[in-house]
Amino acid sequence: VSKVISKQEQQKMVNVAHRGASGHAPENTMGAFQKGFEMKADYIEIDVQMTKDGELVVIHDTTVDRTTNGTGKVGSLTFEEIRQLDAGSWFSESYAGEKVPTFEEVIDAFRGKVGILIELKAPELYPGMEKKIADALMERNMHLSNNGKVILQSFNHESMKKSKELLPNLPHGVLVGAGWKNVTEEQLAQFAAYADYFNPTMSIVTDELVSDVHEAEMKIYPYTSRTQEQALRLFDLNVDGIITDYTEHVYYHPVKNN
Ligand code: G3P
Ligand code: CA
Repeated sequence: VSKVISKQEQQKMVNVAHRGASGHAPENTMGAFQKGFEMKADYIEIDVQMTKDGELVVIHDTTVDRTTNGTGKVGSLTFEEIRQLDAGSWFSESYAGEKVPTFEEVIDAFRGKVGILIELKAPELYPGMEKKIADALMERNMHLSNNGKVILQSFNHESMKKSKELLPNLPHGVLVGAGWKNVTEEQLAQFAAYADYFNPTMSIVTDELVSDVHEAEMKIYPYTSRTQEQALRLFDLNVDGIITDYTEHVYYHPVKNN
């Protein structure tokens, strides 16, 4: 690693702990969010879905298979069924007993302590999800201004339009994958009508894309950095934030090769 992150660069770069500090703890668990907070991330990123009986839960895949000891679709299981699962052992025995958290548990534990980047995961599977999320934020007066550092984002852009109408004072983001390699200024302007962030997979990020996103008056937080080299490349590209499994890669590096 030839580049060194200066203190000034580090201070302006927003450090987002992807699914919590998921390089160090089982993703989307209270343990991973706590770790992200302790590691001084600016935001924790959380994936929100809905159970069969309408509870908002925090889990990435649309099935529980990979990250718990259970099987089945999130949307076909009740909250009680999901709550019995172990969401930590797959990662390490030291996290045995971690549960799938509810959305409300996460916001109650972390609001005011660390920013929360809320991803609506597969909202097309969960009609009414935008409203449920908005209601939970409104009950806590978290919708009035963005003092609480909350951002909503989704790969489902229609869902973001809906959410922006429900929560006009909160920033929203569009997530895009590798298929958006040649995004035009016109497309960015369309996103900017309701979104404040354009968050792409890091493989499509170029100098030109970053300046076009800035030109459209949005910010850009690419995902998902997993190595120091990847984080350094994103620093060079002048992005606004880095969504990473390893919070420490976005820190100030006082000595070369540290
Ligand atoms: O925050 C962006 C990133 O989380 C999107 O990808 O699959 O990890 O939810 P994914
Ligand atoms: Ca996510």
